[in-house]
Amino acid sequence: MNKVRFGIVGIGNMGSTHACNMYNGEISGAELVAVCDIDKNKEEWAKENLKGVSFFEDYKDMLKTDLIDAVIIATPHYLHPTIACYAFEQGLNVLTEKPAGVRAKYVEKMNEAAKKSGKVFGIMYNQRVNPVFQKAREIIQSGEIGDVIRFVWIITNWYRRQTYYESSNWRATWKGEGGGVLINQCPHNIDIIQWMLGMPKRVWGHCLYGQFHNIEVEDDVSALFEFENGATGVFITSTGENPGGNHLEISGTKGKMILENGRINMIKFNIPETEYVYYSNEEYDEKVKHKFEKYEPGECETGLAHKKILQNFTNSILTGEELIAPGYDGIKGVNIINGIHLSDWKNERVELPVDGDVFEKMLDERISQSKEKKNSIKDTSINLGQASNRWEVKW
Ligand SMILES: NC(=O)c1ccc[n+]([C@@H]2O[C@H](COP(=O)([O-])OP(=O)(O)OC[C@H]3O[C@@H](n4cnc5c(N)ncnc54)[C@H](O)[C@@H]3O)[C@@H](O)[C@H]2O)c1
Repeated sequence: MNKVRFGIVGIGNMGSTHACNMYNGEISGAELVAVCDIDKNKEEWAKENLKGVSFFEDYKDMLKTDLIDAVIIATPHYLHPTIACYAFEQGLNVLTEKPAGVRAKYVEKMNEAAKKSGKVFGIMYNQRVNPVFQKAREIIQSGEIGDVIRFVWIITNWYRRQTYYESSNWRATWKGEGGGVLINQCPHNIDIIQWMLGMPKRVWGHCLYGQFHNIEVEDDVSALFEFENGATGVFITSTGENPGGNHLEISGTKGKMILENGRINMIKFNIPETEYVYYSNEEYDEKVKHKFEKYEPGECETGLAHKKILQNFTNSILTGEELIAPGYDGIKGVNIINGIHLSDWKNERVELPVDGDVFEKMLDERISQSKEKKNSIKDTSINLGQASNRWEVKW
């Protein structure tokens, strides 16, 4: 095989951008041959902008044909595992958008289907190619800051106005989306944390629902992570704080990193804190030295980051290149998100992985009371086929 023939399910904001990247020849070895959407307007857009590309209304019809080798899933989140499982059954390679799904229980089934098929399975965790996060991960893995004892991430600059929430019927409803800022904006941040530090054992969550917007899901969250080795983490996010901020601190026994404004400021200790704590007071002044370092690894604008993941996924099919973001990793973030929700609903600390049946029952209670949204208004901040600056990491 020297070319991968792609189909895309869902050509809304994100799917249409992936479609244009491929259609315009920006991903080498990839050919866009089919797209699918249930929305008539998207069909018109595709006919106008993706000439020669087949259009399908039903994803099963597209996945059943022998037109394609790989599918990108860019529908609302609930559908990701359903469509992926069907695609694996047809022997297709799958790249799913984030989050991997809404319920860890179904994402588990998607992973099993992927394994059974033996096909390439990726997830669009485009922040993993961000040089700042890559450098920070490298520093942690090199042991330079010792054992991590704490992280604090205040990521409150996901600001959204009511217009955004009104732009699609599925958004910000339990029934259509299965959550708010945690499941829509934060899957990238939560993935980055577990990619750098590993999975927490327990989470404790405090969510505010419709605190800043007229929505039924959470738009403000404070969560505590607990790791196996006793390390802790505080994660604070919001779509209602303006101006919000983006500040990540990771402290270890031998140093500390502060990620802010696209830079990493480091303070390193010549004596690990675990030894220093037992020195007498007199020894302190002579022995302890702090070293300050600064890294500016550069930026990777969001549009480019998506293309890098598309290229890597295509290469993986063609040449076996290692995936930057394997689809199997998606379950980790979904477990953390389910855990934070469950913790808030039950008002107790939650062990991970979550109990899928308990989560499902409590989510279904919310879905049963979910209100259908009507009269959606057009979101003018987005143009089909173009990466939006609202997807960028804002420092
Ligand atoms: N990686 C990123 O940076 C990033 C950025 C934005 C969105 N996303 C993800 O992409 C997904 C889509 O988000 P969006 O903003 O593009 O939403 P959107 O509403 O603009 O697009 C979703 C599209 O899916 C279509 N659709 C719904 N059900 C379908 C079905 N059964 N078959 C075929 N098409 C169907 C809708 O008609 C719509 O056109 C979400 O999961 C979101 O989290 C990822």
